[in-house]
Amino acid sequence: MKIFDIYIKNFRKFDCFDISFDDKFLIKGCTGSGKTSIIESCYFSISGKSFRTSHLKDVVKSDSENLYVKCNMEDISGFKREITSGLDRSGNKKIMLDGAPVSRKELINSVKYMVHTPDDMDIIEGVPSKRRDFLDKAVFIEDGSYYDDLMNYFRYLKHKSLSLKKGNGKAVIYLNEAAIPLINKIRDRRMDICSKINCEISETVKKIFPGLILDVSSYTDENPGEKLNMKLEKEMEKGYPLYGPHLDTVNIKYQVGESKNMSMGEKYLISVILKLSELYLHAKAGIYPVFFIDDAFVFLDDEKKQMLLDTVMNLKNQVIMTTSVNMPDTYDKLKVFSF
Ligand SMILES: Nc1ncnc2c1ncn2[C@@H]1O[C@H](COP(=O)(O)OP(=O)(O)OP(=O)(O)O)[C@@H](O)[C@H]1O
Ligand SMILES: [Mg+2]
Repeated sequence: MKIFDIYIKNFRKFDCFDISFDDKFLIKGCTGSGKTSIIESCYFSISGKSFRTSHLKDVVKSDSENLYVKCNMEDISGFKREITSGLDRSGNKKIMLDGAPVSRKELINSVKYMVHTPDDMDIIEGVPSKRRDFLDKAVFIEDGSYYDDLMNYFRYLKHKSLSLKKGNGKAVIYLNEAAIPLINKIRDRRMDICSKINCEISETVKKIFPGLILDVSSYTDENPGEKLNMKLEKEMEKGYPLYGPHLDTVNIKYQVGESKNMSMGEKYLISVILKLSELYLHAKAGIYPVFFIDDAFVFLDDEKKQMLLDTVMNLKNQVIMTTSVNMPDTYDKLKVFSF
């Protein structure tokens, strides 16, 4: 999977801008120069979303009515593709793949991408949804059909919420019973990805953060049917679902020696280790997502920066990074664009 070039019109601060990428690419520039916007536009092009806002219309240039993005890339099967996307101020979006409208599901199966930003430190200590999201995205990349499973689960939650609000207990029991196989499937997939990530973590930690103990685990339940029945009364009282994979805990245990208190740089490093471990596990399945790294290695000293850059340069994936600080750019293979 590789992005060759992108042309953007009315995206964030840019009127018109185009850029070609290499296999390992660094975008340098001062604060506000538009570095994150460039990788955000790539992300938007291949996913139809933004990694920094859920209010997609925010990416439309403030004095414009709509934006346009055109991206040439090689998809996961090695085919050259062109994605064009439009978005207006009301959030109406149109994505075309090789000139034909494409659904999000089709996109998921043709393009694979991963992002690391400093916000990913929240995977370790932020709200539980950040950890669930981390696992779910890793499963998506492995298997696009997991997207359908999650969508079906959210559809079940929506119907269940409606029935709870109407006080229709019979409908809730019926919906719960029908959802049990799906609940088990989502939990099994999350557990499976945790064990695969843990296998890769042990190798990655040895190279990057010796002495660190890092382990990812997700909630499991032998008998979800029983739990759903137990929660029913409370759910009827509250009017919304109180149990299921959308609320499951995902634990990330980390420790160095006796200490569980990490410095900013150490937390940053852990978040990078998690993403790299995910990349390694996908590589074992022959899947090489484009890897975007925003504000690359921002909280690290020069030695750690160099070490991570060495690691990134050895990946088989295309890597597109941004930075506003000096980075060691002594690699022939690393192409640099400066604002
Ligand atoms: N919708 C928009 N319309 C116009 N300008 C915008 C819009 N959204 C963001 N901007 C501006 O775009 C500029 C570039 O933002 P961006 O976050 O891409 O910069 P950056 O180079 O990544 O900065 P930093 O080094 O701080 O991360 C900012 O000055 C911001 O105010
Ligand atoms: Mg930025």
